[in-house]
Amino acid sequence: MSRLNGKYALVTGATSGIGLEIARQFIAEGAKVAVTGRSLSGLEKVKSEFGNSVLIFQNDAGSVDDQKKISSFLKDEWNRIDILVCNAANTTQLAVEDWTPEQFDSLIATNLKGPFFLIKELLPLFSNPSSIILIGSVSSIIGHRHSAAYGASKAGLMALTNGLSYELKGRGIRVNGISPGVIVTNGLSAMGLAADVIEKLYEEFKSQIPIKKLGSTADIAKAAIYLASDESTYTIGQVLRIDGGLGKVAVD
Ligand SMILES: NC(=O)c1ccc[n+]([C@@H]2O[C@H](COP(=O)([O-])OP(=O)(O)OC[C@H]3O[C@@H](n4cnc5c(N)ncnc54)[C@H](OP(=O)(O)O)[C@@H]3O)[C@@H](O)[C@H]2O)c1
Repeated sequence: MSRLNGKYALVTGATSGIGLEIARQFIAEGAKVAVTGRSLSGLEKVKSEFGNSVLIFQNDAGSVDDQKKISSFLKDEWNRIDILVCNAANTTQLAVEDWTPEQFDSLIATNLKGPFFLIKELLPLFSNPSSIILIGSVSSIIGHRHSAAYGASKAGLMALTNGLSYELKGRGIRVNGISPGVIVTNGLSAMGLAADVIEKLYEEFKSQIPIKKLGSTADIAKAAIYLASDESTYTIGQVLRIDGGLGKVAVD
């Protein structure tokens, strides 16, 4: 349990779900971790779970100004960073006719513009070598109900793995993505769905997954450890799909 010993990691949107589990497993592997989120109470809960192994920073992933603030916070605290996980996301899913331009801008700000400017602001702090992991979604690969705008924002984020890998390779910064399938988190209840609706949705999803099984936050965290660690130094510009074979393997 020391695959990330001595490394300093920032995980955005890590007060719950996938981000929280990535933070938990990074700490278990020896990393010092900073986490962001918008809710102070969520951040305080993280602090009480991890104590001195974690720094908390209230931050809106969709605000360019906030990305500057986190960079200067980490400069003061660590003066370096080895691992960045861009996990925070706006997961709004609506029918095309229901989107407003403001909602669309907010989605793109959180899922694409914010991560891009966070990386820009952190450039002076990245060690050589270091690893950037962008969290995408199966929704960028397979169209489904109300997913057009969200899927497009995640496709844009995954495209950054190519261009940024090219631009940053000379600094020893690797950029890769993880594309989760259906992972059990609070994400659906955060979208305002009732428990019985979520249960029904999960059953429907399960029937469409080749291995008939939903994913866990640990499935994503294990992949993140690999991409964050020096075990993956030859893995650059890739998107690792962790989705039970969705869209790749026939469903019985
Ligand atoms: N769960 C799935 O099935 C699934 C599938 C594919 C992809 N994903 C992707 O996986 C990632 C995590 O999803 P999840 O299901 O774990 O979600 P979740 O349980 O709802 O957690 C989202 C986290 O992000 C934070 N967050 C949201 N908006 C933020 C913002 N603007 N600035 C800073 N923090 C913000 C939330 O905290 P605050 O509310 O305090 O800000 C929370 O800590 C997302 O990128 C999502 O698109 C999830």
